Amino acid sequence: MATATAPKPKTAKAPKVKDQPLLIGGKWQDSVSGKTFATQNPATGETICQVAEGDKADVDLAVKAARKAFEEGPWSKMSGAERGRLINKLADLIEQHAEELAALESLDNGKPLRDSRAADLPLTIKCYRYYAGWADKVHGKTIPVEGPFFCYTRHEPVGVVGQIIPWNFPLLMQAWKWGPALATGCTIILKPAEQTPLTALKVGALAQEAGIPDGVINIIPGFGPTAGAAISGHMGIDKVAFTGEYTTGQIIMEAAARSNLKRVTLELGGKSPNVVFADADLDAAVEGAYFGLFFNQGQCCCAGSRLFVEDKIHEQFVDKMLKKARSRKVGDPFDEATEQGPQVSQEQYDRVMSFIDAGKKEGAKMLCGGNRVGNQGYYIEPTIFDGVTDNMKIAKEEIFGPVMNILRFKDIDEVIQRGNQTFYGLAAAVWTRDVAKAHRLASALRAGTVWINCYDVFDAAAPFGGFKMSGIGRELGEYALQNYTEVKTVYVNLA
Ligand code: NAI
Ligand code: MG
Repeated sequence: MATATAPKPKTAKAPKVKDQPLLIGGKWQDSVSGKTFATQNPATGETICQVAEGDKADVDLAVKAARKAFEEGPWSKMSGAERGRLINKLADLIEQHAEELAALESLDNGKPLRDSRAADLPLTIKCYRYYAGWADKVHGKTIPVEGPFFCYTRHEPVGVVGQIIPWNFPLLMQAWKWGPALATGCTIILKPAEQTPLTALKVGALAQEAGIPDGVINIIPGFGPTAGAAISGHMGIDKVAFTGEYTTGQIIMEAAARSNLKRVTLELGGKSPNVVFADADLDAAVEGAYFGLFFNQGQCCCAGSRLFVEDKIHEQFVDKMLKKARSRKVGDPFDEATEQGPQVSQEQYDRVMSFIDAGKKEGAKMLCGGNRVGNQGYYIEPTIFDGVTDNMKIAKEEIFGPVMNILRFKDIDEVIQRGNQTFYGLAAAVWTRDVAKAHRLASALRAGTVWINCYDVFDAAAPFGGFKMSGIGRELGEYALQNYTEVKTVYVNLA
């Protein structure tokens, strides 16, 4: 039998990037203050380029442009079908520039290029295509009411929306936010994370090329307490959508409440229980738990960061997991063999290391890892703590790094109770061959997504978001559309 050799992917090099302006009303410009900030390569700590630093004055200009585009521009007169065509065109352009965008994402964020190629880019493209399909399918109902009245509802765009996104999946978070906003006819002011502004700006340029009218999309890179706060507290913005830390979510919600009660949707991370029963397919569970924690350098809001393993299989499970973690390849994101790159920043590196210290101090048993890798960039060894108990800091707070916590349990009732013992509620997973047990957990665990015998499965059509302090509202799927529309009720007197 002839064996085909797979084409070897081009060994990509980190691209050179020039200094970046911001985007307001279709114009690429400096910030009003003239200030810039450096965005870094986490693999080296070196500056990639300077980026225009937006603040309140820039947000004011962006709100004017977005308001004009919402009320007067061609956008507001465009049919849903035409908007859908433009969103599809943007998806096509992202696909045509996929290699360039993947490299830019890996350069700015530090994630392995093979992950950018295999996960971030395809999911981003699918998300835009999914919402392109919705653009001409957003509509109200006719409602039978008492009396001589004809009653119908309209689902109108909420207006000018502010979107504040994090650095862990920059392209994807932009797509989750832009997709439903564009499909419903809103106009946008996006603040990318200060750590990773580059791909957002590139997609902004592609949106222009796709023909999305000026002012529909405005991009203001900058910092949270300045540009971010200007968005969440702005009287001219109708809604704010945010992904990030829950304490930042609280600040944003408060600013939204105190300004104009703008609509708020939040996605705020978690401390997701991943429950492995003794009757699970052990290899699949090890593989899933490994991926569910270490993927993206552990920088996932839904990371399975409380790994509950049933007593009976604990030893076997830990042996297998240790082997995998010890052989994980940590290194240059642009090396094809790399499985784990650096953490995104010095700040995140320090934060993760402080959790590792806390784990040691509180008496958890560190089985591997715990150290820095190399002497430049923000690399951390894949780390596993065993013997973790519910009240340890590492079992309660979001670590957002390559640090696995293994907790033991005896039976199903106990693990349900302990699994829910958190103020978060983003995701959960269960590994078992027993269908009844699986569904019992799916129902009992208070989380926005439950994975059964899988982890980190995502689809643009399926909603994602949190119970409890993991957030408000759902992104993706049909559910996201309601965050971007207002319902208007119309009565017509037929008498
Ligand atoms: P963060 O929540 O501070 O940053 C996320 C975004 O919010 C960035 O664009 C930032 O500029 C903006 N922001 C910050 N302060 C703001 C303010 N006062 N008003 C408006 N916008 C503001 O998160 P950070 O500091 O980057 O990471 C800290 C921790 O947050 C991580 O260790 C992780 O635990 C969690 N996190 C969770 C994410 C998730 O996907 N749910 C994503 C990123 C971080
Ligand atoms: Mg912060």
